[in-house]
Amino acid sequence: MDYQSHFQSAIEALHAEKRYRVFADLERIAGRFPTALWRHDGKAREITVWCSNDYLGMGQHPDVIAAMTAAVTAMGSGAGGTRNISGTNHPLVELERELADLHGKEAALVFTSGFVSNEASISTIAKLLPDCLILSDELNHASMIEGVRKSGAKKQIFRHNDVAHLEELLKAADPARPKLIVFESVYSMDGDVAPIEKIVELAEYYNAMTYIDEVHAVGMYGPRGGGISERDGIAERIDVIEGTLAKAFGVLGGYITGTRALIDSIRSYAPGFIFTTALPPALAAAATASIRHLKTSQSERDAQQRQAARAKAVFSDAKLPVMPSDTHIVPLLVGDADLCKKASDHLLQRHGIYIQPINYPTVPRGTERLRITPTPLHGDGLIETLKDALVETWQTVGIRFSTEQPQHAERSSAVTSLVVSQAGG
Ligand SMILES: Cc1ncc(COP(=O)(O)O)c(C=O)c1O
Repeated sequence: MDYQSHFQSAIEALHAEKRYRVFADLERIAGRFPTALWRHDGKAREITVWCSNDYLGMGQHPDVIAAMTAAVTAMGSGAGGTRNISGTNHPLVELERELADLHGKEAALVFTSGFVSNEASISTIAKLLPDCLILSDELNHASMIEGVRKSGAKKQIFRHNDVAHLEELLKAADPARPKLIVFESVYSMDGDVAPIEKIVELAEYYNAMTYIDEVHAVGMYGPRGGGISERDGIAERIDVIEGTLAKAFGVLGGYITGTRALIDSIRSYAPGFIFTTALPPALAAAATASIRHLKTSQSERDAQQRQAARAKAVFSDAKLPVMPSDTHIVPLLVGDADLCKKASDHLLQRHGIYIQPINYPTVPRGTERLRITPTPLHGDGLIETLKDALVETWQTVGIRFSTEQPQHAERSSAVTSLVVSQAGG
């Protein structure tokens, strides 16, 4: 058996499909986000990052840096063990209290990433419920899909955000059977939002549990940053709220919140929680500082929404194909993996602008895109510069512009369907 040739041909298949991933070697500069250094060909060049999930720039907030620095100075670098064997450090205990309060739940549990929190929690909940049926949105994140798979439970996929389809499946299921509905609030590639209240109403009517992933919403929505469920006043009717500390909170780690009994069960049964080293104290302290800041400060949320709306309007006026999005995420349709990679390379090399191409399997084939995430730190001048660079790139690389009238943040449904049908083709 020639093992290496198997690995080589697996890589060549990705090259052939134009979806081989190249990572940009970046050095972030504290205090200057979204500027970073791009290290390439033995040189370091200043570039502007336009695709970061440090959505509010909290990764460089003075309170967050101060909390991390103080904790590492006082307590050292690592946690020193799993949660059960010496790793439950005090900042982590405080962080869990902070998170339970953020979502108005009895308890919270922190994992080493949002990915692990989904995989470990969904699989464990479904394993603990006898003969559980999982109902999962078709566009759920890979970490939720892994959790569903690992549970071994029967699953049914409902069409994306389609509550009529979800109800059909719930109605057809045995009323006595335990059911778990898993879905996201903000879907991060399209920037659309789930009909949370309708899903919760169905769950209550058909006696199902609800599990929501608020990874792309926590910190950014709701008066205290509790996510879309807080914004819509529905958090208390959702059984499990999951989130990340790595995006708007600017640090690392994932979590779930829920009732004391549920959290205690995951703590006691989930291998992905039990058999791994705990989050280090400095990360926990930094995350707590970030959450506390965003519980009372609205200015980052307001500025992010303003800059996202502005970017959508400016790009639409330039006939760049902005895909419909109800949130801070600004996807530009390219519709071809090769062109998407070429556009990304051209932006970086020619303009010093970094936007990673988003290709299959992250999005369906034919909907390849540049996913732009304006933050409070992307000022109006940067948006103009980006628009000019995108227009030049679209012309040079040969990507289709929108043919319709200029669209603004509030698009008509006719324009929306035009852009969506392009996405399908
Ligand atoms: C919807 C969703 N859930 C979970 C995760 C995983 O979160 P983390 O990056 O903290 O592992 C991601 C990551 O990008 C995500 O998009």
